[in-house]
Amino acid sequence: MKRINEIKLCYPGKLEESEVYARYPIIKFVPVKEFYPGKSRPLMLDSWRNMLIFGDSRSVLRALLEDNTIKGNVSLIYIDPPFATGSIFRKGKTISSSESDEIAYIDYSLGPEYLEFMRHNLIFMRDLLSEEGSIYVHIGIQATHYLKILMDEVFGIENFLNDIARVKSNPKNFHRRAYGNIHDRILFYSKTPRKNLWNDPREPYTEEDIKRLFPKVDENGKRYTTVPVHAPGETKNGDTGKPWRGMLPPKGRHWRYPPEVLEELDKQGKIEWSKNGVPRIKIYAEEYMKKGKKMQDIWLNFKDPPYPDYPTQKNLEMVKTIIEASSNPGDIVLDAFCGSGTTAVAAELTGRKWICIDKSLTAIKVALKRILEFQRQPFVLLDATGEVSRLKQAVEEVLKQKR
Ligand SMILES: C[S@@+](CC[C@H](N)C(=O)[O-])C[C@H]1O[C@@H](n2cnc3c(N)ncnc32)[C@H](O)[C@@H]1O
Repeated sequence: MKRINEIKLCYPGKLEESEVYARYPIIKFVPVKEFYPGKSRPLMLDSWRNMLIFGDSRSVLRALLEDNTIKGNVSLIYIDPPFATGSIFRKGKTISSSESDEIAYIDYSLGPEYLEFMRHNLIFMRDLLSEEGSIYVHIGIQATHYLKILMDEVFGIENFLNDIARVKSNPKNFHRRAYGNIHDRILFYSKTPRKNLWNDPREPYTEEDIKRLFPKVDENGKRYTTVPVHAPGETKNGDTGKPWRGMLPPKGRHWRYPPEVLEELDKQGKIEWSKNGVPRIKIYAEEYMKKGKKMQDIWLNFKDPPYPDYPTQKNLEMVKTIIEASSNPGDIVLDAFCGSGTTAVAAELTGRKWICIDKSLTAIKVALKRILEFQRQPFVLLDATGEVSRLKQAVEEVLKQKR
């Protein structure tokens, strides 16, 4: 591990971490408007306000690091930054858009400038995270492998948890001389090894899973499977090495349960005996179904919306799943590239506090509109660009449309 941590990505213009910090002056945020849910102002238990911040992610993150209520207290960061596609994204009504549509944002091309941009963001985000915190970086195939190495550098490879493959769309008929690309990636890291908050999300078993995993059916029509009564490893002195019904566990193995428990299981009809007298423990599907299936690192069920409010808008259920897996209600969730505000909406729906940042006014307008639809907690809109009047005008536009 130590030697692997010596591997670094080399490119022109890469600053030392101390230089990265020095590069960004500490800016002040200008509050533009507070938004309260419903008609009456709710009683706040603390002075916290969720924040939608119009500004460049790096300057905003650097400034947030000066706030001791935030630095080291962010539980979860989900970002879906520019993917280095070299494209212009416009706010069309569908996945496709025309040149007359409003520009939402212009992506970087893959190169040193992009990598250094992402590295500065990652350094600040790491320092904002709590010790139990974690970060999910959603990224396209163009930049995944570069970012994996950058994240190993910034977070330490010992904090790498998953490289999730997410199916983003239905199969496409590409005219390229290559396979269609229907997945992107989510790189998941903890701040501290093995300390990340983890709520072990589960998904329901499908009918197919149940039939495959529990192929037998008992006299009551209940699905089950069987496993050996013994497991690898010898018990020297414990009960699971003692004889049961005159038998010892096979060499190199031990009983899964002490003999008296096996006896009880047999009384309950939970042991199946073969014709040759070999016992196996019965495992019923219903016990497993209650718990749900452990989520794996290939995500098939979170495709992006076909009619997005914003280009590259991500699947709301996916972001809710991430938030519920890696934070608790009341925790702070941050997204420094919030686009249409999917993370803020997911945080509202799951009772988390949130901080969302975007430098596109188009994004801020869409996010504002969506958050107001789902809002349950007060939030403040802050300007970090010095363009307060443009932001105020944008707010008026959104509120006018709402009226
Ligand atoms: C892929 S989109 C995010 C989409 C979002 N996840 C959603 O569900 O709508 C990336 C966003 O990053 C924003 N962005 C790009 N560079 C930025 C920067 N330096 N600071 C803040 N936001 C930036 C863009 O304006 C764009 O809205």
